Amino acid sequence: MNILLAGGLGYIGSHIAVSLLENGHDVIIADDLSNSKIEVVDSIKKITNKEFKFYNADLKYIEKVEKIFAENKIDGVIHLAGYKAVGESCQQPLMYYENNLITTINLLKCMRKYGVDLILFSSSATVYKASNTMPLTEADELGPCNPYGRTKYFIEEMLKDEVASGSNIRAIILRYFNPIGAHESGLLGDDPNGIPNNLLPYISRVVTGKLEVLSVFGNDYPTPDGTGVRDYIHVVDLADAHLKAIDYMQKNKDIKIDFFNIGTGKGYSVLNIVDAYNKVCGGKVKYKIVARRSGDVAELYANPAKANKILNWHAKYDIEEMCASSYNYENKKDAK
Ligand code: UFG
Repeated sequence: MNILLAGGLGYIGSHIAVSLLENGHDVIIADDLSNSKIEVVDSIKKITNKEFKFYNADLKYIEKVEKIFAENKIDGVIHLAGYKAVGESCQQPLMYYENNLITTINLLKCMRKYGVDLILFSSSATVYKASNTMPLTEADELGPCNPYGRTKYFIEEMLKDEVASGSNIRAIILRYFNPIGAHESGLLGDDPNGIPNNLLPYISRVVTGKLEVLSVFGNDYPTPDGTGVRDYIHVVDLADAHLKAIDYMQKNKDIKIDFFNIGTGKGYSVLNIVDAYNKVCGGKVKYKIVARRSGDVAELYANPAKANKILNWHAKYDIEEMCASSYNYENKKDAK
């Protein structure tokens, strides 16, 4: 298939691009470079030895989206174009609503106009209500608690309405848990600008001496060791879920919309991650316990049974492999 990857140079998009190209698909990447780097184009080409078209395009502008659809014969869209920082979304909610929602509306309008019927949307575990019991299934109650999460939720609702309207559009929604890790080549990984918000890039920078010490946000949660528990999933396993999802929609044309949790089903605490990282780097993770971070929940992990069964997708990598790949990426980045 010829797949438009909207937001395809980002951390997750770049790994999906590699999986698609290595599995016989063609890709067109559109990205505005607001949270990604142009060098990623070369990294994807180097890993796959394949060529693809890249558009430096802000998809909030319909004419930019229109140009991509007019110039290419697109069979499906994987939509990852969006801002993703929870804290920033609380400070600048309108920027989040404008960017994440308008980009989606523009993609859907052009899909209708050019007869493209398949969209895969990158949603998040954050769409679920915090009061649900773990593990989360797709049937659990939705109710995100920050503007970023609400953009994901509204887009899911928009897709439901669009599908229900009788248009030809079919949608598959993947709710990601906590993607971590990096490509085995060390050429692609999570490389946020400035001080990282997320746990793994923060630890990687502590281990390689760029940051002093990890602040562990709270050790008084009702979890086995008191620190927050999450469902960490290797980004390469996550990319593979996209391949399986596309395949599923191709083989089951009667399916108009479906939702899947993409996680391993296993919860690890912050201190479990510190231990796993220490094993791969030789014990260099300095940390201190500080107050809880506002907005964090005690635990969040998936029941991935639906994706296991229906998509025939299974996470392959364990937590030490995830940490080892992050460490490898951080070291290779420094060596450049
Ligand atoms: N944590 C620390 N110190 C840090 C960073 C994180 O102790 O410096 C802890 C957090 O308190 C939490 C865990 O590590 O317990 C994971 O935190 P992350 O920031 O890595 O990830 P979150 O679970 O907060 O959020 C992530 C994504 C969101 C997404 C959400 C869905 O960043 O985009 O998962 O669950 F919405």
